[in-house]
Amino acid sequence: MGLLKFLIYFVMCHVIVSNVYAKNEEYTGFKVYNVKLETEEQQYKFEILKSDVIGYWRKPSVKFNITGQAMVPPSHFKWFEEKLTELGVAKDISIEDVFEYLSWKEEVAEKILRNEEDKMFSFDDYYRYNDILNYIRTLETAHENSTDINFKVIDAGLTAEGRPLIYIKVTSQAATSEKPIIIIEAGINPREWITIPTSLNIVNKLLDQSYNKFINNFEWIIIPVLNPDGYEYTHTNLRLWTKSRSIQSHLGAICPGVNINRNFDVDWLSFDSSSSPCSHIYGGPEAFSEVETRLIKSLLDSNEKRIRLYVSLQNNGGFISYPWQYERAASGMFVQQHLLGLSMIEAMQEHYNLGVSSEVYGDRASGTSTDFMRKNGVLYTFNIDIVPRSEDSVIIPREEITTIAEDVWRAVSVAADNLL
Ligand SMILES: *[C@@H]1O[C@H](CO)[C@@H](O)[C@H](O)[C@H]1NC(C)=O
Ligand SMILES: *[C@@H]1O[C@H](CO)[C@@H](O)[C@H](O)[C@H]1NC(C)=O
Repeated sequence: MGLLKFLIYFVMCHVIVSNVYAKNEEYTGFKVYNVKLETEEQQYKFEILKSDVIGYWRKPSVKFNITGQAMVPPSHFKWFEEKLTELGVAKDISIEDVFEYLSWKEEVAEKILRNEEDKMFSFDDYYRYNDILNYIRTLETAHENSTDINFKVIDAGLTAEGRPLIYIKVTSQAATSEKPIIIIEAGINPREWITIPTSLNIVNKLLDQSYNKFINNFEWIIIPVLNPDGYEYTHTNLRLWTKSRSIQSHLGAICPGVNINRNFDVDWLSFDSSSSPCSHIYGGPEAFSEVETRLIKSLLDSNEKRIRLYVSLQNNGGFISYPWQYERAASGMFVQQHLLGLSMIEAMQEHYNLGVSSEVYGDRASGTSTDFMRKNGVLYTFNIDIVPRSEDSVIIPREEITTIAEDVWRAVSVAADNLL
């Protein structure tokens, strides 16, 4: 092979092998439509506005007056607009080009960052997974000889891409071995970055002496990043990625990833789930096929009777909700859940709605973590869906993290107080 031929060959291979898309470029031309439903009938028929390729940033809810936001690829504009007409919903585009929009958001964020000196880890910013891990391990070392606080980082195996999956256990050294447990899960949907500093803020509060009673009376399990592979991918490739990066399915090499919050064994693959590996709501080759879901299952299996409260932090529209999400009905004992939820939203400064998950989301979904916990005997399981203060519900600017995280802490601490 001549040198020139070789060079051409090399360049061509390189182009093919390296990812053909620059960051977020796959969203070029995608639009976001506002979906404002006015009647119960429209809500009932909402299904017709869904498909494997339509990505909802937020689902519409008539009952809670929530305007949905649907991200639609160019191939489906016509289809989607026809369905809107069929449903009697006015066409209303909120973002003309998602790629442009994300680039602009990033530019704004970077400008602010560049204006600051290199700073220490803090709770008012977003960090890459390694930085988060380092921070947490530093906390663990700092408390290794503490006679007051028992702080442990537990390794729960490796993700598909080889990242350590970890969770934090924090409680007081006061040795009643069988304390009730509170679990806080964050980052199940990797693009919902806001959940991660929100969970780390809870860790920080628990280490604060003025909140001693919470670690004296409970053992806390915090999973700050349940889906690290997906989270890193939202930093490096696609900001709006919703899945893990595992490649177990028959199409794994082409379409990696499983939607972790559709992979639990509750009515698996029935609603708002897809059996297509290329879909953003792919439920996996089977329930619990993923190391991330199995981590939650193992927490249940090893602590079943002790789990008092399970909270999944998400970012979809400003509400606290309780099971069921897979059924249009509440679970047994929902009055207790509603009352505890009421105390939580009353403690918050922002306005949050409260209700049954399938109702507040305006849609059913199978295979979710909170339904799974409820199905297995945990009485208090909530999704806290963080309020989007910005015009969209996905990209929360870093300036808003502290206010949001503090509000969620109010809700969580009031719940813990009530369960003392
Ligand atoms: C519903 O929300 C919109 C803003 O999204 C507001 O202008 C309107 O007044 C609300 N309607 C009701 C009945 O609360
Ligand atoms: C904890 O104790 C060990 C053994 O005495 C010591 O080497 C280590 O530096 C201590 N850690 C801290 C954070 O003080």
